[in-house]
Amino acid sequence: MMSKYSGDKNYIYYPGTDIPINRLGIQTRTTLEKEEQNLLLQSYEYFHSSLSEDTLFDEDYLKLLQKKFFSKLYDFAGEYRNVNVSKGYSVFCQVRYLEQTSKRIFNELKRDNYLKDYYKKTKEDFAKKITFYLCELTALHPFYELNGRTIRLFFDMIATYNGYDYIDYSDAAVTKNGMNNFILASIECMSGNEMLMYDIIISGLRPSNQ
Ligand SMILES: Nc1ncnc2c1ncn2[C@@H]1O[C@H](COP(=O)(O)OP(=O)(O)OP(=O)(O)O)[C@@H](O)[C@H]1O
Ligand SMILES: [Mg+2]
Repeated sequence: MMSKYSGDKNYIYYPGTDIPINRLGIQTRTTLEKEEQNLLLQSYEYFHSSLSEDTLFDEDYLKLLQKKFFSKLYDFAGEYRNVNVSKGYSVFCQVRYLEQTSKRIFNELKRDNYLKDYYKKTKEDFAKKITFYLCELTALHPFYELNGRTIRLFFDMIATYNGYDYIDYSDAAVTKNGMNNFILASIECMSGNEMLMYDIIISGLRPSNQ
């Protein structure tokens, strides 16, 4: 899906394209997607094996999830955006409120002990909390690009920490006409309706066998 950026601060893309300027000079969508997929897999492996009781799922962690490997490809990796972004009819958090809104969300997450106690609670309670914060971060859309993948990685690490597998989004990810249930649920999140996203999370959340 094409993103619209305000004014001429369109500088993260090669002119006239929606391909982000990257360190490998890749200008072909499919080649870039392969590279991104590879970096995402490396991120999953690294952050999974780095999980410990000391891990704090805070704002720095969210940024690090993107920065650690994607900075090999993108200068903007792990940096909050300084341009306003919309997708379709959805307008994400205005840049001038981005920092304070992020702080508000992560303060709340801290009061929830970064969701580190949900191994003790019901799957439904966990799914509700994940949904709430996932919707908040979706509406925040803090990065220039890779928001969906970085935010899903974030909650996959929280799920792992609590003894669950990575959340299975495969049903929601089936794309028709550039649209899928995850995007529909994201659109609903933007207007405060978390029900579609909850359905996705509860059906994709499974206790790990180990
Ligand atoms: N029309 C929309 N309204 C609200 N949110 C949207 C819309 N389209 C996409 N999104 C959200 O933005 C995310 C995509 O943002 P971005 O392109 O920065 O990340 P990505 O990792 O490249 O994408 P994806 O999640 O598709 O893999 C989606 O995951 C979804 O949550
Ligand atoms: Mg994208």
